Amino acid sequence: MHVVIIAGGSGSRLWPISQKAHPKPFLRLDGATSLLQQTYQRGQFACGEDGMESVTTVTHRELFFRTEDEYQALAPQQPLHYLLEPCGRNTAPAICAAALELKQRYGEDAMLLVLPADHRISDESAFAEAVKHAAVAAADDQLVTFGITPTRAETGFGYIEVREAFHPAESPIQPALGFTEKPDPTTAEHYLASGRHFWNSGMFCFTAATLLAELAQHAPALLEHTQAALGAARYSEGEKHSVAQLDPEHFATLANDSIDCALMEHSSKLAVVPCDIGWSDIGSWQAMADLTPADAQGNRVQGDVEMEDTQDCYIHSHHALTATLGVQDLVIVDTPGALLVAHRDRSQDVKQLAERLASHD
Ligand code: GDD
Ligand code: MG
Repeated sequence: MHVVIIAGGSGSRLWPISQKAHPKPFLRLDGATSLLQQTYQRGQFACGEDGMESVTTVTHRELFFRTEDEYQALAPQQPLHYLLEPCGRNTAPAICAAALELKQRYGEDAMLLVLPADHRISDESAFAEAVKHAAVAAADDQLVTFGITPTRAETGFGYIEVREAFHPAESPIQPALGFTEKPDPTTAEHYLASGRHFWNSGMFCFTAATLLAELAQHAPALLEHTQAALGAARYSEGEKHSVAQLDPEHFATLANDSIDCALMEHSSKLAVVPCDIGWSDIGSWQAMADLTPADAQGNRVQGDVEMEDTQDCYIHSHHALTATLGVQDLVIVDTPGALLVAHRDRSQDVKQLAERLASHD
């Protein structure tokens, strides 16, 4: 199994703790290891001791040295491959480039386990079990997703539809009937109520051959432009190490496209392994709040906080005292460089806010 770590997102929904210069994969939420290092270790654990044949990381070229430092601290044994992007074009080109590269190096049967670099999974053993099931279906020409049982009508996720409610004992893997990326609120409510939808966790398992054949069918321009960007890449090779700088001119011709919209919404080869793995994409302040236990007033607090008549707030304040009085439903995030005060229902909109602020820099 070849682990592919996609690490080039900006994580701007977690502004101001995650920023362009300090993106989410490098956050050390537990103190010791970064989310990126945890992703590497998760891949290793899920593949079994000798099962992880290589690790390919697709990321922005400016993040290369920091990424390499994070891995070296883990004393990696496997070959490390890097695909460096001149700019972000979302996950479809990143995953397509990884599949092309791995096919070239290891053959078209190379099996990929794609892991976003900034997720949290509390039950790694259950995830390893899910990967075992995924590998069987992936070897059988399926694009395998890992489905999470929805707990709210989240509009920031993809939804995978299955035929009927899942009985893990009967079948650990199910064919998917459809995939909808980031539905509107009414549709998300409908999916939540149906009992026939899973959240897409954003992790995938497939062979290079399956992914590339499906892209050839459903997104031929994307495949062609990514092939060109990789074909003209500048390579440097070490003994157990390779770095490919994707060609900027060809890469710039690529449309910004997620693998979910470019492929998952169109493919008829989708399967899902439903899993209960304590997953969070820590994709918004709402998700961050969910990881923090609530007090009797529904407040979730990290750091130095004093509250009076305060309800259902999430407050993150590690460098100074934050005091609140007579407020509710707020997200407050205090950092040395910036302070965020938002309504908690607007946590998905922090991305646009952060992008607007970055464009003023
Ligand atoms: N290399 C690279 N280049 N990586 C990228 C890029 C890029 O241009 N853009 C995003 N990524 C990485 C991010 O770092 C993250 O680890 C992962 O790809 C997913 O990107 P997000 O931008 O966080 O996607 P999303 O959260 O909107 O949606 C995806 O994840 C959801 C679950 O967290 C989709 O797969 C949804 O369907 C899914 O529900
Ligand atoms: Mg995300």
